[in-house]
Amino acid sequence: MTTDRPNRLRFPDRGSSRDEIRAALAERQAHDVAPHGERNFRPNYYVDDETLALIDEVSAKVAEQNVLYAGSSYPSLKQIEAELVEMGLDLFHAPVDAGGTVTTGGSESNFLALKTARDRAAAMRPQPSPCEVVLAHTAHPSFEKAAHLLGVTTRRATASVDFHADVATMAGLISPRTIMMVGSAPPAAYGQTDPIAELAALAARHDIWFHVDSCMGGFFLPFAKALGEPIPDFDFRVPGVWSLSADLHKFGYAPKGASLLLLADRRNLAYQEYRFEDWPWGLYATTGFAGSRPAAPIVAAWSVLRHLGRAGYERVTARTLAVKKRLIAGIRAIPGLDVVGRPDAAHFFVCSPELDVYAIEEELTRRGWALARARLPDSFQVWPGVPHETSADAFLADMAAAAALVRARGLRAEDRGAVYTR
Ligand SMILES: Cc1ncc(COP(=O)(O)O)c(C=O)c1O
Repeated sequence: MTTDRPNRLRFPDRGSSRDEIRAALAERQAHDVAPHGERNFRPNYYVDDETLALIDEVSAKVAEQNVLYAGSSYPSLKQIEAELVEMGLDLFHAPVDAGGTVTTGGSESNFLALKTARDRAAAMRPQPSPCEVVLAHTAHPSFEKAAHLLGVTTRRATASVDFHADVATMAGLISPRTIMMVGSAPPAAYGQTDPIAELAALAARHDIWFHVDSCMGGFFLPFAKALGEPIPDFDFRVPGVWSLSADLHKFGYAPKGASLLLLADRRNLAYQEYRFEDWPWGLYATTGFAGSRPAAPIVAAWSVLRHLGRAGYERVTARTLAVKKRLIAGIRAIPGLDVVGRPDAAHFFVCSPELDVYAIEEELTRRGWALARARLPDSFQVWPGVPHETSADAFLADMAAAAALVRARGLRAEDRGAVYTR
């Protein structure tokens, strides 16, 4: 076997100084999008520089700690996780017997919700195998991934109704094998909250676990609702909601690596746990997918949550909504452009019944704006927030110019692809 490839990067013989590392990193980052930049309309979660400084400070303090050893070595982490869960249960109006865990992100929260529902169903009421989960067309791909890994079959609606879950179609997908149904508040696609109360009632009629995926909206919708936005109830106040996922690392404004999975009945945590006892070292038991876990995102999430409080979250949500409304009004005033559906969170999708919207996106990209495409219909995503208070007018002017150019020249984008992640 030959291992010698001429252009293979060599494992370094000698170490590098901190200055050398800084320079090498800066070189590699030269073409990165500024995460909180005013021209970045991809996911961009920013409150202010003080909050970022707080995140940096507390993250550095716990960079060496491993949450896996919270029980033995780091009681502070155990307490901080428990407090994060408690604060989440309060925000989402959970019943007194509720419980939950901190996870590494939305995909893990959704994975664990499905695992918990699957293992509970297996214990309580054996189903014909393989068991199934019923999904809306817009449900996040993390459920497909989880189902794949857990040996569960997905039954996904093939379309949406007015850009939200098609309850009637989902009802038709329920079978004796169904162990779980999912609604999203809101889904990343379209950003329009599903009819959670109807879906939860449907699941309850069939005695099926109902999960609310509020990874995107969990730390946005409650504050938008408090500010008077017409957001339907989507949390544990809705009868029939068994679990809810909400990402601290999205509108909780924590750094990546923190989400909550909350269960209406904490006894179901037993089904979430994985245990292995026949190992020379001893018992291995975790409630999550990961083994070792970084403490920094969790401690940072706890710090940001306490730093902002409801008042702070309402302030940043109000500013985000103001930019969003300014942009949507401006875009609808541009001939040929429209916005898809009634998006409830910050992000929305620009479409056009007349012009090639991907060609408009290409022109905006040429002008230095970072956007992301979507499909069904062809559209591109705009993710407004505090950083865009200063750039919204320039963005609208460029969008009007780009639309006019595409119309005048009849431009068509060559590349028709729309990629969420790769
Ligand atoms: C509704 C929804 N669910 C789940 C996820 C997955 O979250 P993560 O990327 O943190 O795994 C996302 C991500 O955007 C989402 O919007």
